[in-house]
Amino acid sequence: MPPRPLPLLNPALPVIWYGGDYNPEQWPEEVWIEDVRLMKEAGINLATVGVFAWSRLEPRPGEFDFGWLDRVLDLLHAHGIRVCLATATASPPPWFVHRHPESAPVTAEGVRLTYGSRQCYSPASRAYREAAATLAGRMAERYARHPALVAWHINNELGCHVAECHGEESTRGFREWLRRRHGTLDALNDAWGTAFWSQGYSSWEEINTPRRTPYLPNGAQALDFRRYCSDLLLDIYRAELAAVRRHSELPATTNLMGFHRPTDYFSWGPDLDFASWDAYPEPHDTLGGAIWAGFSHDLTRGVRPDRPWVLMEQAVASTNWNACGMTKPPGRMRALSYQALAHGADGILFFQFRTSRYGMEKFLPGLVPHGGTKGSRVWGEVCRLGAELARLGELVGSQAANQVAILVSWPNRWGLEQAGKPQAFDYPAELLAVYERLWRRGIGVDMVPPGANLAAYSLVFAPCLYQIGEADAARLLAYVEGGGALALGWFSGVVDESERAHLGGYPGPLAAAIGAVVEEWHALPPNREWAGEIGGRPCAVRHWAEAVHTRGAEVLGSFREGPLAGRPLALRHRHGRGLAWYLAGKPSAAEDLGRWIDCILEERGLRAEIAAGPDVEVAWRVGGHGRFLFLINHGEAPSHVRLHAVEGADLLDGKRYRGNVPLQPAEVRVLRAGA
Ligand code: GAL
Repeated sequence: MPPRPLPLLNPALPVIWYGGDYNPEQWPEEVWIEDVRLMKEAGINLATVGVFAWSRLEPRPGEFDFGWLDRVLDLLHAHGIRVCLATATASPPPWFVHRHPESAPVTAEGVRLTYGSRQCYSPASRAYREAAATLAGRMAERYARHPALVAWHINNELGCHVAECHGEESTRGFREWLRRRHGTLDALNDAWGTAFWSQGYSSWEEINTPRRTPYLPNGAQALDFRRYCSDLLLDIYRAELAAVRRHSELPATTNLMGFHRPTDYFSWGPDLDFASWDAYPEPHDTLGGAIWAGFSHDLTRGVRPDRPWVLMEQAVASTNWNACGMTKPPGRMRALSYQALAHGADGILFFQFRTSRYGMEKFLPGLVPHGGTKGSRVWGEVCRLGAELARLGELVGSQAANQVAILVSWPNRWGLEQAGKPQAFDYPAELLAVYERLWRRGIGVDMVPPGANLAAYSLVFAPCLYQIGEADAARLLAYVEGGGALALGWFSGVVDESERAHLGGYPGPLAAAIGAVVEEWHALPPNREWAGEIGGRPCAVRHWAEAVHTRGAEVLGSFREGPLAGRPLALRHRHGRGLAWYLAGKPSAAEDLGRWIDCILEERGLRAEIAAGPDVEVAWRVGGHGRFLFLINHGEAPSHVRLHAVEGADLLDGKRYRGNVPLQPAEVRVLRAGA
């Protein structure tokens, strides 16, 4: 039985959404007429309007000018183009900052930022939050029943440039937030371990945001500050959404930013009607960029797994903010768009429709280039993709159905990446290393937080799960006991949610699952590695190694040199009805980590249905209308897949494919699979 299809993003637009940010306020009205004509030519069905339009909508305090926006929406509607309407709050106008100087953000060094760019507000500013909610409410009041509208785009990339503030208001807010979290000062002193370095607080008023300190700041304080700031940014979203909801029930989202460090999107998920995000993979690393994008797509899907998601922004050609904004070669934008679809997106949108003539993004190409569309390679690709997506309506609502999950945790990242450790850890890189192997094996992955219900998964990877609280640990243990499988990476189970070390041996509350405890660590300098083996095959270790005592675990491999020679490197343990694996060091080579992963996959009977050549992504969507197989060559050389157990008709060219299917660089096939 295929899973039930996910609900439509909005039944009023039951197709794949196609379009992007549209900023008509930058252009005279005669250009708008040309814009809608071109949108129709390209098969665009959705425009995201008004993201940065605050100063045009409210040019002076309390003085609103909606006339131009009325005309824009009417024009779009007259041409059958639907609208995802922004609340226009992303950047307060200069008058606002003038009126509310305290709303401008203050850095940890005490520097107050000012307007003249964008996003100049403190996440803690009540004045900003109220003004944003007021504008959002005015927009909703006026446009809730406009026939073009299908969704709300709340704010824009919350916390992209300013994710924290150290001003007075933010500091006061932090104290209140801490009171709610800890209740009493004694509890806070205890949770923060302030007996260390004489940091004990004798009144709430003494507590500051973690500003510049002479030496390492209190890690528990820094962690709570990250939680506070993530909550503040969510509060802005909520305040705007509440104002919108007084007038409109249309679905709402805000554009997320993948594994954006400051914002714990898992805690945002319940407030989003659907998730959306802005994907800007590194342009010069074609394959690495695609793997990173796949990871981030899956993470976005995990924020709101019960709904389809939308690729809210991508670059059609290049960006102007990378070290080198390389132009996507022909076909690459299309391939990356299909990749988003393959990972469950029901909308493919761009930043932005028409390239700005002025401003700091004038060299970031939109769909319509400065030179116009005639003879434009980019425009040709945009039109081709629009025509194709219009024929792929049966994909809508189908979803990924995966048996493997990776545990991802923002608080874990915040703790793991703090200074004060014998070694520095790059959490996204550790997650990506595991993800990449699964990607190369054609195994679809869901991203889930540590507290998630894992019952649906046959196997769960948890790389560097440094921070784990008792409740989440209990769920993980219960999952393994009940027959699940956990592959735990090194440097896991080290601290609780307040950065206090677990006593009795790492990985603390997870030690029972792996049947072993870690006694001590060895941080290795960059040019050092120790030989080891797993299952009789060499596996050298670099960066990090651990001295482990087994407590029932079976040893699958050991260190062969250095102070840990002869001690376990890889462990496997039966716990309850399930299994756990542990790796007590970081393999030097991706291939060695990969082999460890392969062995685990094999033991769980997890094998890709399709044998793919190098750099080919294989992904499935399943739903009411069938099973859809996406094949995408992200490499720069011809590749192939071998279809044996599966064959299918390509929704794009109508032909049937089976056996050896060649794939040119950037080539895509979307097969409706049959046996
Ligand atoms: C996004 C942002 C857009 C635009 C784009 C350029 O981060 O939401 O407004 O700036 O980047 O790549």
